[in-house]
Amino acid sequence: MRKRLMKIFSGFFVLALALVMTGCSASNGKRIIRIAHAQSETHPEHLGLLKFKEIIEDKLGDRYEVEIFPNELLGSAQKAIELTQTGAIDFVVAGTANLETFADVYEVFSMPYLFTSEEAYHEVMNDNDYMQQVYHSTDDSGFRVLTWYNAGTRNFYSTKRIETPEDLKGQKIRVQQSPASVNMVNSFGAAASPMSFGEVYTAIQQGVIHGAENNELALTNNKHGEVAKYYSYNKHQMVPDMLIGNAKLLNDMSEEDLNVFMEAALASTEVELAEWDKAVEEAKNIAINEQGVEFIDVDVQKFKDAVSDVQEEMLEANPSIQELYDHIQAVNAKYEGKE
Ligand code: GCU
Repeated sequence: MRKRLMKIFSGFFVLALALVMTGCSASNGKRIIRIAHAQSETHPEHLGLLKFKEIIEDKLGDRYEVEIFPNELLGSAQKAIELTQTGAIDFVVAGTANLETFADVYEVFSMPYLFTSEEAYHEVMNDNDYMQQVYHSTDDSGFRVLTWYNAGTRNFYSTKRIETPEDLKGQKIRVQQSPASVNMVNSFGAAASPMSFGEVYTAIQQGVIHGAENNELALTNNKHGEVAKYYSYNKHQMVPDMLIGNAKLLNDMSEEDLNVFMEAALASTEVELAEWDKAVEEAKNIAINEQGVEFIDVDVQKFKDAVSDVQEEMLEANPSIQELYDHIQAVNAKYEGKE
């Protein structure tokens, strides 16, 4: 009920926003910078964005004021990306699955078991120079990525216990709204059900789906642990979230302002990464002690075997991911001691 009211309210809010945002100026003449994201105010991404705001307002506060809208208040990730595209808002944080329709290079992150270690994942994503070619791939769509945030490791969780891939058969599992995400979860043998993040709680509660796949924070920050009690560590993906900005805003800015925005973006990532592991520990404690969630260690190899053809199939279907894929494999090899 609360969710529905929030949705209706946020619909009005977006409308009101569209009406008042002629030039996005505040009454004090400052340019208002609006940022949307899907997480709660205690989530590491929100804390990172507070750093972003702090640096911009410290250094350019005479001209900019930063407003952060959490909890999908301005709509689901896909809606908020559209608002960022048109310039109705300026920034949004969203997972790469939402970017696949704009630049298919982002499909690479939907591959199951793409990164073979957390070290490799962080090294690839922290290489801001290398990532620029990927980040600029959505320029023609009117936006681009400034930096990444860690969104942990994604695992299956459900109202039904999952110990092997066979347990996924017959289970309806929510996935993010992208064909590659649908394909990934279907390959495990489940029935993928794409929907926005904000719809997942009610869908599990009402039995429309059995479960979903996400990091541990989804259990607590998004309360999914209230309705799904089995969380299985099959570790199928490490997928980053991206801070995405309106291209016109960034292109029209003076070099000096852009440098401050970039500095603020990278500092926001540092804060987010530093908060992440703590947040996961906290989420697990709450999930176990307050929500009664059971965390299950599974034989990961069985899950890997179930989707062993998917990487090859995706590479054949989409040549744009080959270069980034090869780059990631080289970094993987470094941490597997193969070099
Ligand atoms: C995580 C991730 C989000 C993503 C969400 C989802 O919370 O950080 O970017 O949108 O999962 O599964 O939709």
